[in-house]
Amino acid sequence: MSAHPEKFLLAGVMGWPVMHSRSPMLHNHWFNERGLAGTYVPLAIPPEGLKAALRALPALGFAGCNLTIPHKETAMRIVDEVDDTAKKIGAISCVVVRPDGSLFGTNNDSFGFAEGLVEKIPGWRADAGPAVVVGAGGAARAVVHALLRRGAPNVHLVNRTRGRAEALAADFHGPIAVVDWEKRHAALGGAALLVNTTSQGMVGMPALDLRLDELPKSAVVADVVYIPGETPLLTTARRNGHPTVNGLGMLLHQARPAWQAWFGIDPQVTPEMRALIEKTI
Ligand SMILES: NC(=O)c1ccc[n+]([C@@H]2O[C@H](COP(=O)([O-])OP(=O)(O)OC[C@H]3O[C@@H](n4cnc5c(N)ncnc54)[C@H](OP(=O)(O)O)[C@@H]3O)[C@@H](O)[C@H]2O)c1
Repeated sequence: MSAHPEKFLLAGVMGWPVMHSRSPMLHNHWFNERGLAGTYVPLAIPPEGLKAALRALPALGFAGCNLTIPHKETAMRIVDEVDDTAKKIGAISCVVVRPDGSLFGTNNDSFGFAEGLVEKIPGWRADAGPAVVVGAGGAARAVVHALLRRGAPNVHLVNRTRGRAEALAADFHGPIAVVDWEKRHAALGGAALLVNTTSQGMVGMPALDLRLDELPKSAVVADVVYIPGETPLLTTARRNGHPTVNGLGMLLHQARPAWQAWFGIDPQVTPEMRALIEKTI
C-alpha cells in the first residue's frame, strides 16, 4: 500500500541529451524500495524548450526536477527564486515546485560531494588541511563550496585557463589561492585532499596530466568523474597508497536533498543502490 495513495509522485531530469543519465535508475530504486506510487523520468529537453518545460511542471503535477547538461546555468534565470548555495555556485541542479506553482532552484552537488566523501571515508573532515582542486567549471564550484562551508583552511585552485579559476576565487571570497597550471605538480605538497573536477579521465578522454610525487601519502584523492569507476588518476593514487573516492557518491547523495524537498522523505544511499548503478558503469 502506497504511503501517498492519493497522489502519484512525479519527478524527472531535464537534459539534452539525457538518456545516458543514471538518475532515473537511482530515483526509481527509491520508489520501488518504499513501495511508493511514483516515477522519475528522463526528459529530453532541447535548450530552446527549457523555459516552457520548466513552466509546465506545476500543471503536470511534477514535484520538481533535476537539471543536467546543458541546462544548469540557464535554468537559474528562469525559475522564480534561487537559494544562496545556487547563487554561489552559479547554477541550479534541482528545481522544486512550490504549492503556489512557483519554481524554486537549488544546487545539491555541493552536499553530494561532501556526503560522498564522508560515506567512503568515515571521519573525513574538510578542516584536516589544505585542499587542491583541479578545474574551475561547474563541478569545481560545487566542490569548492562544500570545502569552504565545511571549514577547509585553504584551497589551492589549479585550472588550465587561469582566468576561470580567478573568477571562481573572486566569487567565493574565501581562502582560495589560484595556482598556475604549470605549477600543479608542486602544488600538491602538504595537501590533505586532492580533487579532480575536470572531465579528464572520463571515458573517451585522456587522463589528467598530474604527477602525485609531492602529495603526502595520507592525502585523500577524489575524482568527480564516475565513468569509469576508477579513473587513471585514482588508479595511480590507490597504487601509491592514498585513500580514493570516485564521483559516484556525489551523484547518489545529491539525490537525497531533492527527495526531501520534493516528497518530504530523506532516503538512504544503500550498498544495494550503489551496486545497482555500478553494474551499469
Ligand atoms: N559526480 C557527479 O555527480 C558530477 C556532477 C557534476 C559534474 N561531474 C563531472 O565533472 C566533470 C566536469 O564537469 P563541469 O560541469 O564542471 O564541466 P565544465 O564546467 O565544462 O568544466 C570543465 C573543466 O575541465 C577542464 N578541462 C577540460 N579539458 C581539459 C584539459 N584537456 N586539460 C585540463 N583541463 C581541462 C576545464 O578547464 P578550462 O577552464 O581550461 O577549459 C574546466 O576546468 C565532468 O566529467 C562531469 O561529468 C560529476
